[in-house]
Amino acid sequence: MDTKKLRVNGKRLKSTLEEMAKIGATSGGGVQRLTLSDEDQKARDLFLNWLRELDLEIVVDEMGNIFGKRKGKNNRLSPVLSGSHIDSQPRGGRFDGILGVMGALEALRTIHENSIETQRPLMIVDWTNEEGTRFSPAMLGSGVWAGKLDRDWAYDRTDIHGKKFGEELIRIGYRGERKAKRWAVQAYYELHIEQGPILEKEGKNIGIPKGIVGIYWYDIYIEGKANQVGPTPMEGRNDALCTAAEMILKVNELPAKMGGNMVATVGKIQNYPNSRNIIPDRVDFTLDIRSWDDNLAIRGWKDLQKDFGRIAKRRGCPVRIEKTWSLKPTAFDEKLVKRVGKTSQELGYSIRPMLSGAGHDAAYLSQVAPTAMIFVPSIGGRSHVEVENTRREDCEAGANVLLHCLLQSAFEV
Ligand code: GLV
Ligand code: MN
Ligand code: MN
Repeated sequence: MDTKKLRVNGKRLKSTLEEMAKIGATSGGGVQRLTLSDEDQKARDLFLNWLRELDLEIVVDEMGNIFGKRKGKNNRLSPVLSGSHIDSQPRGGRFDGILGVMGALEALRTIHENSIETQRPLMIVDWTNEEGTRFSPAMLGSGVWAGKLDRDWAYDRTDIHGKKFGEELIRIGYRGERKAKRWAVQAYYELHIEQGPILEKEGKNIGIPKGIVGIYWYDIYIEGKANQVGPTPMEGRNDALCTAAEMILKVNELPAKMGGNMVATVGKIQNYPNSRNIIPDRVDFTLDIRSWDDNLAIRGWKDLQKDFGRIAKRRGCPVRIEKTWSLKPTAFDEKLVKRVGKTSQELGYSIRPMLSGAGHDAAYLSQVAPTAMIFVPSIGGRSHVEVENTRREDCEAGANVLLHCLLQSAFEV
């Protein structure tokens, strides 16, 4: 059969996504499938059922990464891999991550029902804990698999209730036997929603990221002095929350101060003891700095640290800073990036070269294998929210591009 004529089944992809979105469905139309929660477990179970229907060889590794392998003609050749993540943000959307897994599934279903025999094996993957929201940092499964993060350190990550990643992995029954250790991969493709406004605004079908911005994560701990709010004069207070408030505004002002090409965000904060009539004596918050220009990010962080030091001193609230995670800017494989662009155009889709401001498992994969991503438009540029949405035709287009990129790599000898 002429594989050039193959197309995915857009209707089936839509209903697969809808079926998945029932697991962890939220009242506002999104999903909440936090890593290693009961919802993550249910979604994994369903995913495994779908893999079994395709007679794939299934492996769950010691990080809970799920792989499904479809044999090729020559199984000594390294496989072509594609996937993304099943976990979501709290009150997150129905497309982030899951589109990349279900898109790869749709591509495999299409290849399967047309009895296509590729040279190389094809593999689908669900990486554990891409989001890094329940257990920090992000991309834990792909990071350990790629040899960039330590397995036991990963097992020790705790959520805000003190539950450990390693224990939760066992609890949901997804700590596999196989070592989470990379093997040779011919090519890794990840289909994903853009999570930004550019494609929709410019009316383009497919985004072709040349790479992913660098990401720096810090945890900031501020210590104050608690006291009764009524009798304690304003003067001489050591208010940890006010100290944090000043610091947070400095974070928000940082990108403009550094001349753009950077974003900086405080997304999570904990205030103690969190009572309306006690001066806060401890505040913890997270800091996320991203830039394609690594020097700018480093200089920005140095600048911010000076500001934090000054604010902490003036308010008499010592600050402790922990660098929790970082990822240098990632440049994808040029040959594969070109292939994604050319394939999209051959299929009749308009393209837009871009950068990814969001982190993806593709960042770790890129360090050990030729990697590229395929972006599809996000309606209103909204993501990590319940209203996150992508048109059915755009999901289908992205899956078609993925299908043909997979086939090209899988026929390489
Ligand atoms: C991953 O979702 C990120 O934070 O970019
Ligand atoms: Mn994602
Ligand atoms: Mn995400």
